[in-house]
Amino acid sequence: MKSILFCFLAIITLPVFAQHESAIRIYPEQGKQQINKHIYGHFSEHLGTCIYGGLWVGPDSDIPNTNGYRNDVLEALKKLQIPNLRWPGGCFADEYHWMDGIGPYESRPKMVNNNWGGTIEDNSFGTHEFLNLCELVGCEPYISANVGSGTVEEMAKWVEYVNSDGDSPMARLRRQNGRDKAWKVKFWGVGNESWGCGGSMRPEYYADLYRRYVTYCRNYDGNRLFKIASGASDYDYNWTEVLMKNVGRRMDGLSLHYYTVAGWNGSKGSATDFSHEDYYWTMGKCLEIENVMQKHITIMDKYDPEKKIGLMLDEWGTWWDEEPGTINGHLFQQNSMRDAFVAALTLNLFHKYADRLRMANIAQIVNVLQSMILTKGNQMVLTPTYHIFEMFKVHQDATFLPIDMMCEKMLVRDNREIPLLSASASRDAKGTIHVTLANVDLQKENNLTIDLNNFTIKSVNGRILTSTSINDHNTFENPNKVEPGLFKEAKLEKGKLRVKLPAMSIVSLELK
Ligand code: AHR
Repeated sequence: MKSILFCFLAIITLPVFAQHESAIRIYPEQGKQQINKHIYGHFSEHLGTCIYGGLWVGPDSDIPNTNGYRNDVLEALKKLQIPNLRWPGGCFADEYHWMDGIGPYESRPKMVNNNWGGTIEDNSFGTHEFLNLCELVGCEPYISANVGSGTVEEMAKWVEYVNSDGDSPMARLRRQNGRDKAWKVKFWGVGNESWGCGGSMRPEYYADLYRRYVTYCRNYDGNRLFKIASGASDYDYNWTEVLMKNVGRRMDGLSLHYYTVAGWNGSKGSATDFSHEDYYWTMGKCLEIENVMQKHITIMDKYDPEKKIGLMLDEWGTWWDEEPGTINGHLFQQNSMRDAFVAALTLNLFHKYADRLRMANIAQIVNVLQSMILTKGNQMVLTPTYHIFEMFKVHQDATFLPIDMMCEKMLVRDNREIPLLSASASRDAKGTIHVTLANVDLQKENNLTIDLNNFTIKSVNGRILTSTSINDHNTFENPNKVEPGLFKEAKLEKGKLRVKLPAMSIVSLELK
């Protein structure tokens, strides 16, 4: 990889100067790898109010909707250019029996959502509702099938139900339920977290089970399935080793989950009430995903040097304490400028691994962990994380451009060292270069010089997401406190770009 990080070390307690001086060099002629748009994927789980109240209110609701889907949420999601949406879980997936969610609503059985607060699930949002939502939003569906408490037959029939256009029994049932044409779903997950809520399995056992399940998942009418094996939890490298060895090319993708979370015992910390030290710790924990990915990738490279199998980071994001006063087990959390930084830094580093990382799904799209959108009754707010996904969407399917970077670093809690600048660049199909930057420092401006390695540009446009405090967030009372604005502090001077990044800011530049 061309990108090299030159860094000066600054310890958090040293006397401070008013600004940083940083430099990056972009190599526009050296781009080879495409940033798979699916890295900008999302995740919808039957958890809390993600589905019910968040995406779906039902056709009889007073909340303005299109066939049961909230209009406000639909419109907001369309602006994100969502490439794919994972469903129905998460842990929920391995207790979900898809046949309970088809046919007339009144005859759909209810179930208890044991993972998430014991809420009664009435199955009114099922396969048709999910796949029609994907069509409305314009994204590809990614279905996670039940391995933990399901059967091979159940999964095989689900594939047939959604993908067969022939005169097969499941295709006939689908037509009976009002859908003529098959949806042609490509992405199929074979279980979720099979080492935990998905069945508490050992990797050897799961590997065999995976092989058995996929034997019966057919490619209907030329629609080749992209099969994704349930992968490791963050630091469990043995899981990846065993799966690569025992499953190999029988899978198209291997999943990995990594959360920016403060620990499983006791408090994970408030989403909005945190100190500057907590913020810097969060940056360190979020950036550690790179080291974790590298280790999994090294194992994958050993068995698959041609990089045919994709790494699918199909759950990532921040995980804070549930908001006070909300239902226990529904994992409803607020989303502040700190979450925006986690999104920006993570997406910027994902781009570097475009040759192996084929998909990533931030958890969850509405009303749960690091969500894009929060709803309450008929109200909706867009979170700071939403704005990052909207500002960064220009990188989808663009060519990754290598960069060198020179910036200061900071030593933070847990002995992690974090660069105070994050940067990524890509070139889109029209030749426009997009650069996304984050000045992680909460106090100091960053004077950045961007050298384009003799590449000529004529104009620069910018947008910025910043606020007065890192704790700032959007509420139902004040929904637009954090929102992007125009950025005019990028100037062309003698073939270089001089950029004044304010403290605590995230910027996207369009260079033509
Ligand atoms: O995102 C919440 C839960 O985290 C998911 O259901 C599960 O896969 C993971 O443990």
